[in-house]
Amino acid sequence: MKQQDKFSSKLGAIAVAAGSAVGLGNIWRFPYILGENGGAAFLLIYILFTIIIALPVLISEFSIGRMAGLSATAAFKKLAPGKKWYFIGLSGVLCAFVIISFYNVVAGWTLYYTYLAIVGDLQSLNEQEVTQLYQQTSSDTTTCIFWMVLIVGAIAYIVARGVQDGIEKYSKVLMPLLFLLMIVLCVRSVTLDNASEGLAFLLNPDFSKLTPTAIFAALGQAFFSLSIGMGVMITYGSYINKAQNIQRSAMSIVVIDFIVALLAGIMIFPCAFSFGISPDSGPGLVFVTLPNIFNKMTAGHIMSIAFFLLLAIAALTSSISLFEVLVSFAKAQYGIGRRKATIIASVLTVCVGIICAVSPTVFSLFDNVSANILLPLGAFFIVLFIPIVLGRKRLRKELEANGDKCKTFSLLYFLIKFIVPLAIFSLFLYCIVNWLFVN
Ligand code: PHE
Repeated sequence: MKQQDKFSSKLGAIAVAAGSAVGLGNIWRFPYILGENGGAAFLLIYILFTIIIALPVLISEFSIGRMAGLSATAAFKKLAPGKKWYFIGLSGVLCAFVIISFYNVVAGWTLYYTYLAIVGDLQSLNEQEVTQLYQQTSSDTTTCIFWMVLIVGAIAYIVARGVQDGIEKYSKVLMPLLFLLMIVLCVRSVTLDNASEGLAFLLNPDFSKLTPTAIFAALGQAFFSLSIGMGVMITYGSYINKAQNIQRSAMSIVVIDFIVALLAGIMIFPCAFSFGISPDSGPGLVFVTLPNIFNKMTAGHIMSIAFFLLLAIAALTSSISLFEVLVSFAKAQYGIGRRKATIIASVLTVCVGIICAVSPTVFSLFDNVSANILLPLGAFFIVLFIPIVLGRKRLRKELEANGDKCKTFSLLYFLIKFIVPLAIFSLFLYCIVNWLFVN
């Protein structure tokens, strides 16, 4: 088994992991899930879950990856030889496949909106026309499929040639640009008429709106947004240098990822309330709100082009990390070359992507099942692996490999061993009981 390449600079490994984490999950999915689940109370639960559940899972994935120096399936085979733990890697492959199928459809929409922005078709639309445009886009299967195929083509080209590093280099410049653009959009959004109502929705919690479904959705969103529970971060962990501090790296990714999601919320809800768009508009929320802001600002045309293009690139870097899971699996499992593996993975993802583009039911089924079931289940077994197979001492040694003492180790280990598995297990149980007996 080949050791993964180590990134020489500190920024390298963190940047690729952040590139996977920051994407449509923050800017498209987070606002619409929050909007459907009551707003600020959801945000608080989301923050809580991110700190006490998602962060320990991310640290676990990084540690497993760096310890083994391999990607998910191979890492489990190496660390627990002869045992069945590698099924976590296999379930990650299934999960990558499910996510990528609907993810690329949305990535296709962002690319199509970039095109519309360039040719000026997003300009001077009124609120109704903006909403109609999204409805037309999402129901016009030819358009959806065309732009999705373009995205898959771009990913396949990058992955087949193994030039992901090049893309990451660009995104190190482009992602901060997206971040700045979002700040400008936030400022415009909060200065619109009636913006305070949207801000209150986002920041003023009403706990009566917190249903079991909302709590479950917050957990799923935390996993989805950080790309955890399926082994992608195990692969990126294998890139992390022994001289780097894993907890600190994980923490920076959590913070970056959260800030981008929060900015998306601040950008979208004041605007939605100002234009009378319901916060629970579903997966189209970003697309039915943002064009309205661009129409209300100076240089809105340029801003709209830049925003949708950068969003498409953010989606691309996340999608590449998912695609890479499929390609490495096909290569290892069937002993085929990178190019062949890429072609097979592209054809399969396009086929299932078409089903998602045609059927909104399949689209939301995949969206829900991946985030709310597959990722939490994967995370459950990943954290169990630590106390059962690795043990306290080996984890500590890995976390302190750079020479820094891990002061919060006992707390972290307690979270990994007890709180995270228990929380995931009880949430599952609670929801199953609720769905069976309450609905
Ligand atoms: N985290 C990515 C996003 O926020 C999506 C993703 C999930 C990527 C799981 C890889 C694995 O857009």
